[in-house]
Amino acid sequence: MIISRTWAMPNKKTFTIKPIRELIDKWVVESEALDPFPFEYSEDALDYLKRQTPKRYALFDPPYSPRQLKECYKGKGNFDTKASTWSTWKDELSKKILPGGICISFGWSSQGMGKNRGFVIKEILLVAHGGMHNDTICVVEQKVQSELPHKPKVEGSLRLEETSEGRTSIPPTIKMAGILEVIL
Ligand SMILES: C[S@@+](CC[C@H](N)C(=O)[O-])C[C@H]1O[C@@H](n2cnc3c(N)ncnc32)[C@H](O)[C@@H]1O
Repeated sequence: MIISRTWAMPNKKTFTIKPIRELIDKWVVESEALDPFPFEYSEDALDYLKRQTPKRYALFDPPYSPRQLKECYKGKGNFDTKASTWSTWKDELSKKILPGGICISFGWSSQGMGKNRGFVIKEILLVAHGGMHNDTICVVEQKVQSELPHKPKVEGSLRLEETSEGRTSIPPTIKMAGILEVIL
C-alpha cells in the first residue's frame, strides 16, 4: 500500500485540488465513474445509485461530517446526520462497483469502503491544507470480492469450531454464500 502526504490549497470542489486531480487521473476513468455526490446537487445520492448499473470506477465524495451535512447541504436530498447515513451510502455504492473495480473515497478518515464490503486499500493520499483546516484523506480501494455480510448468512445454525492451531473456523458442512473463512 502506498501512503503519501502533500500540501495544497483547500477548495470546495475537491476534484480541482491538484494532487487529488492527479490521483483520480492515475486510478480512474472519470467519464466511466459513479459519482453520487457531484458539486452541483441534482438528486439524492440513493436515488442516483438505484438507477445505476455496476461500473468499474467510483468516486465517493460526500459531505465530510454530520455538521457539514446539516449546515451546508440542508435541503439537498437525505440530510439525516446519523452515522448510518454514511454507511447506507457506502452499502449502496459498493454494490454498484464491479469486482476488480476501483473506488476513491474522500473525507476526514481513512475508513473508505472497508474490507467488510470486499475492498482492499491500494493507496492513501493525505492532502494537508494548512492552518486550522483538516486534511483531505483520499483512499483508493479495489473491490476484490463481492460484499461480505457483516453478520454471516448461513443455512442452518452456525457453530464455530476450534482448529488444532487454536483458531476458530466454520464447520465445512455448513453452506455459506460468498464468505471466506479467512476473515473470521
Ligand atoms: C464534498 S462535496 C463534492 C464535491 C465534488 N466532488 C467536487 O469535486 O466538486 C459534496 C456534495 O454532496 C452534495 N450532497 C449533499 N447531500 C447530498 C445527497 N443526499 N445526495 C447527493 N448529493 C448530496 C452537495 O451538493 C455537495 O456538493
